[in-house]
Amino acid sequence: MASRPSNPSSLLFLFLFMTISGIAAQKTTHLHFYFHETVRGPDATSIVVASLHKNSSTFGDIHVFDNALRDSADPSSKLIGRAQGLAASSSLADLSALTAINLVFTAGELNGSTLTLFGRVAEVTGTVDRSIIGGSGLFRLARGFVLSRTVVGSTATTVVAEFDVYVTHYY
Ligand SMILES: *[C@@H]1O[C@H](CO)[C@@H](O)[C@H](O)[C@H]1NC(C)=O
Ligand SMILES: *[C@@H]1O[C@H](CO)[C@@H](O)[C@H](O)[C@H]1NC(C)=O
Repeated sequence: MASRPSNPSSLLFLFLFMTISGIAAQKTTHLHFYFHETVRGPDATSIVVASLHKNSSTFGDIHVFDNALRDSADPSSKLIGRAQGLAASSSLADLSALTAINLVFTAGELNGSTLTLFGRVAEVTGTVDRSIIGGSGLFRLARGFVLSRTVVGSTATTVVAEFDVYVTHYY
């Protein structure tokens, strides 16, 4: 037979203590890595799944990708995870896109944890500033932002972008 809580107020105290210690454990982590996106050829990691091509606009195009996250801009550097998500060309006026990406970590302490990135890519060049809206594993309740910039250009078969993630989390 299950034992019953003997003293509800002591349970409340324990809950408050855990809540307060959880807040105290909040930390901010900076992650730095490189996003490798192969845009054509048999090893493409990014595909166009919808494109109406009514005219010269890219509006409405949808790309889905499963890109490698590596330690450095070198394609043979250590794999630390994948960037799995989509980009939808969502501006009538320019080439900007809405992106929704899960950063899925597969190495070391972060193996099995994810971060969910959501935001707008305004241009291919320059710094892109997007939100971290959540996460899983060590990144439950995560909030933060990601700054990224292309380091190997858009004419290459594999486009490489440098990512700096600043994330506040509790675990
Ligand atoms: C593309 O098509 C849209 C909708 O039909 C139209 O509004 C727009 O002006 C066209 N753009 C160009 C560059 O032709
Ligand atoms: C990551 O976790 C998975 C599932 O637990 C495991 O199979 C894999 O070996 C781990 N990888 C590393 C590099 O620790």
